[in-house]
Formats: sequence, structure tokens, C-alpha cells
Amino acid sequence: MDLPGTATVLPGGHLAIGGLDTIDLAKTYGTPLWVIDEEHFRGNCRAFRHAFRSELFPGGADVVYASKALLTLAICRIVEEEGLSLDVVSGGELHAARMTGFPAERVYFHGSNKSEIEVQEALEAGIGRFMVDSFHEITLLEEATRPGARSANRAADRSRGRMADVILRLAPGIDAGGHDYVRTGLVDGKFGLAISTGQALEAAERILSSPGLRLRGLHCHIGSQIHEVAPFTSAVSVLMDFAALVLDRTGWVIEEISLGGGFGIRYTVEDRPLAPAVYASAISRSVKDKASELGLGPPRVLVEPGRAICATAGWTLYTVGSIKDIPGIRTYVSVDGGMSDDPRPALYAARYEACLANRADEEAKVTVTVAGRCCESGDMLIHDLPLPEPAPGDILAVSCTGAYNYTMAMNYNRLPKPAMILVNRGRADVIVRRETYEDLAAHEVVPERLRR
Ligand code: LLP
Repeated sequence: MDLPGTATVLPGGHLAIGGLDTIDLAKTYGTPLWVIDEEHFRGNCRAFRHAFRSELFPGGADVVYASKALLTLAICRIVEEEGLSLDVVSGGELHAARMTGFPAERVYFHGSNKSEIEVQEALEAGIGRFMVDSFHEITLLEEATRPGARSANRAADRSRGRMADVILRLAPGIDAGGHDYVRTGLVDGKFGLAISTGQALEAAERILSSPGLRLRGLHCHIGSQIHEVAPFTSAVSVLMDFAALVLDRTGWVIEEISLGGGFGIRYTVEDRPLAPAVYASAISRSVKDKASELGLGPPRVLVEPGRAICATAGWTLYTVGSIKDIPGIRTYVSVDGGMSDDPRPALYAARYEACLANRADEEAKVTVTVAGRCCESGDMLIHDLPLPEPAPGDILAVSCTGAYNYTMAMNYNRLPKPAMILVNRGRADVIVRRETYEDLAAHEVVPERLRR
């Protein structure tokens, strides 16, 4: 298998990440265990920052990390240190950013159904941009920015009279990448306003006529795990054509264009990802060409990689338990986690590579199916995985689990969520502690009448 980042095989055959023996990590911190390779995570941040540097983008560029892919307080600090901005989609993600003191002006607030209180809190926090997704959100922003009546809500009072800088999310009608569930640029979808129906223009005109709102730019996010530049350059074209239409109707001049995330990564040998620099040069060229064709100045370009920053930096270590061999049919190797810590295979038929971390130097001898431990026949982590003959107690290391694993994990079957450690140059730090059974009951209440 491919060993991303700092992963290597030590002379004794153990897999090491961040200079640490994963078998020692499994012993010290238990399994399942999420391991984040800090050097690799930072390297991915730097590769995007370098690719989208200002020399290539005359109007400027910004890399906005999509925190839905992986957000913890420590990760938030690293993202800030690496100079990226932050895409949040909820009050919870915004709260994490604020807890770590992430500069509010570098926060971009996404989401197709932000609540009134989320809008007020974000305005009060002074976030950089609202990525406006609907007419409803325009109404909420108009209301929140209107100077005037006091309300019972303190955040609402403090947010009144402030200006909101907004970027309008369009549904550009581009079909790109990934599973149906992660295709997000289509006209028939819940995200953004479609150009073809006239609703995008109507929304732009309404924002422009709202005194508390400043329209700064246009956004789209077309899908995930995309391995080509064409969907991004098409998006540039569609958004810039729309900007020219709005200019023609209203005199508005676009300042920023956000092309969303979706940059693909290598999960398995079948994936052929492109380097960030390849996307950057194609996007840069198409923005320049399109701007000059339309007689517009080059806008600032924003991209929002999530997976491409964190996926390959993450590993999950599991302990092998029951091994069920059905002669002539299949061998199921059960591990101590599953869809509870990684729902992606069950949700999207996502594929991963893995090895036995304690015998990473051994040749594969058998082909097995890795089963999760949830009571769900669809809880399969990896189909047809070549491995040395596995035995109970072996440690299975699954690579590229840094994106949408922790953030989509659940407590099905009342399984506590694993711990997460950050490893770097021989040092390990717990950044999320393992949940306990007590944690699982912490929010629950037994009504008085049911108590003993
Ligand atoms: N920007 C916006 C507005 C998004 O909606 C997303 C992802 C991103 C950026 C980051 O996309 P990325 O670069 O990570 O592909 N749970 C699914 C992925 C859902 C993506 C949702 N939006 C998965 O596990 O594959």
C-alpha cells in the first residue's frame, strides 16, 4: 500500500507515523485510535498556500480550509498558524473557531439553513463573509443588520446596525466528482441559487438593495473527490458570466470568486489526484482569461479544500478480533471500530487501503473483508483487502481516514468515540480524549417519576 506523509515501516516491521511506532501508540492510547500526522497536515496546508500565492493571482487568493472535514481545537490552531482561512457551517464550528481565538475576519460562514441565532452570533463575532445560500438567509441578514428595535437577545442587539459582507452561493449546473450524495453544484439540489431559473439574479439584486448587506462575490461548490481541472474552470466561466450579467443589470463589480472545495486525494491505487499547483495554474489562467474577455478586473480567488488538507494525514488503528472464515466464500476480519468511527464506506461505498501495522513488512497471503463491530450487516470497512494471514490482536492501520471520519462519527450501539492523537517528530499529544460510557450518558436525564 501507499504510505502517505511521514509513515514508514521500521526495521522490525512495525508501521511508524510521525516518528512513532504505531504498535506503541495502540498500547498507550488504546484502539480504535485516530492518528493525525501533523507534519503531513501542515505540508498539505503549505502546498495549497504556495499554489494559490499572489504572484499567480493578480486579484489575490485565499485558501479557506473546510473545517467540516476535520475540526478540533488543536487542528483549528494549526490551520491558523499555517495562514489558512476557515470555512464553518454551523454555530458549533464557529464556536470552536472562537474558542481558539481564530481571527474572525478569516471565517467564512457556509450552510444552506443557518438559524437566526447563528446569523446574529456570526455577525456579532465579526466574521469575514456570509456565504449566502437562500432568500431566507437574506431575510435573516436584513433583519439582523437593521438598526432599530431592541430584542430580548443580547447577541441580536449587538449585531444590529453592523454590515454583513456576503458572497452569494450559486448552483451553477455543473455535475462533478464523487458519489451522488456529494454532488452539490446541480440546479436540482438544496444548495445555492440557480442561475438558469433567474433566482440567482433576483437574490443578487435583493442583496444589492439591502442597506446592511455588501455583496462581495460569488461562490459555488461543485462536488468532492474531483480529479480534473475542467469542472473548476467551467465554474469560473459560469460564475464570471453571471458576474457580467449582474454588472450589466446593476453596475455591481465582482471582487471575489469562491470555487469551493472538492480537490481529490489518493484513497486507493485507482485514484489519480492532481497536485494543488495544477489546479491553481488552470484556475489562475481561466480567471485571467475570463476577466479580460468580459472587461472585468481579476477578482480575488478563494478555494476551500477540506479533504485535500486532512484526509491523507489521518490514520485509524484498530485491533483485530473475531475472524470468521466461510470456506469457499469469504473471510470476515472484525475490528473494534467500524461505521461508528468511519461511516464513509456504508454511506458512499468509500474505499480505503490498510495494512497490519505490526507486520507491515510481510507479504499479503489472503484476501479478506474487514468488518466493523456495529450491529448492521452493511458495516463493512474494506472489501477484498490483501493482507498477511491475520490473527486476533493484530493492529490494522487504515490510511487516509483524516477527512469526514471524526466529524461524521457517531455513537451507534453506544460505542464511545475513539481518541485522536497528533503525532510529530517522535511526539504524541492527545487532541481528543477517548469518550467514556459516562460521557455517553452525560446529556441524559431520567425523569423523577422513573427514578428508583
Ligand atoms: N466547500 C463547501 C461549500 C463544501 O460544501 C465542502 C464539502 C467543501 C468546501 C469541502 O469539500 P472537500 O474539499 O472536502 O471535498 N462527507 C462527504 C463529503 C461531503 C462534502 C460536503 N461539502 C465525504 O465523506 O466524502
